[in-house]
Amino acid sequence: MNFHILTLFPEMVMGGLSTSITGRAMEKGVISVEAVNIRDYSRDKHHHVDDAPYGGGAGMVMQPGPVVDAYEDLCGKLGKRPRVIYMTPQGRVFNQKIAQELAEEDELVFLCGHYEGIDERALELICTDYLSIGDYVLTGGELPAMVMIDCISRLVPGVLNNEVSAEVESFHDNLLEYPQYTRPEVYRDMAVPQVLLSGHHKNIEEWRRQQSIRRTLERRPDLLEGANLSKKEKKFLEGLLETQELAQNGDESDSDPREM
Ligand code: ADE
Repeated sequence: MNFHILTLFPEMVMGGLSTSITGRAMEKGVISVEAVNIRDYSRDKHHHVDDAPYGGGAGMVMQPGPVVDAYEDLCGKLGKRPRVIYMTPQGRVFNQKIAQELAEEDELVFLCGHYEGIDERALELICTDYLSIGDYVLTGGELPAMVMIDCISRLVPGVLNNEVSAEVESFHDNLLEYPQYTRPEVYRDMAVPQVLLSGHHKNIEEWRRQQSIRRTLERRPDLLEGANLSKKEKKFLEGLLETQELAQNGDESDSDPREM
């Protein structure tokens, strides 16, 4: 998978993505990340890439020329016209399903805006997708692009050492991941659940599924509707729902670890 980021801040995206797992994947050659500096395509003698909005208003708007030229130049080098994803809070909200779909592509272009955005004509000419990372407004598209590239990369074969972990983790099958423990066996009087020390793989598997269901019910009940549960697991969930009702009637509130 080859990622291309059109940005005014190449050092920001390259610095972040060259670190940790994505950095290792770049070294191994299973992904590549290239930042294209939009400013390099300014035809202005002062290398300006923005100007005041027609019709008035606050801030500056990125001009269409440098953005479109940066993309066209890239297309010429690649010999194809890859999908262009514009980072914007006005887009569809990115999720694991969208990540899986994008991970099928060979090349992806992420367009990062700044200031008050990019001239609409550039977007009309080159953008195929409009994506957001959530309902809040950031100062630019670089962090959203890094978030999406990180998420898509871990679905690319060879990026994670452990191939199964990309599947099992949170959101696979619409269930959140079960809790994990490592040494020491007892920490501040808190013991690791006994079943995990038993070596009984079937029981461990069953316990983990139950913990996933419990956790999803507590933290993201909206996900449960799309979860694929066995008959036995549905019964387990019903049991949890009953105790939840009882707890609510007893007016039990969430505990705060700071009060411990
Ligand atoms: N640019 C500014 N805010 C954004 C967001 N929430 N998602 C994607 N791009 C953005």
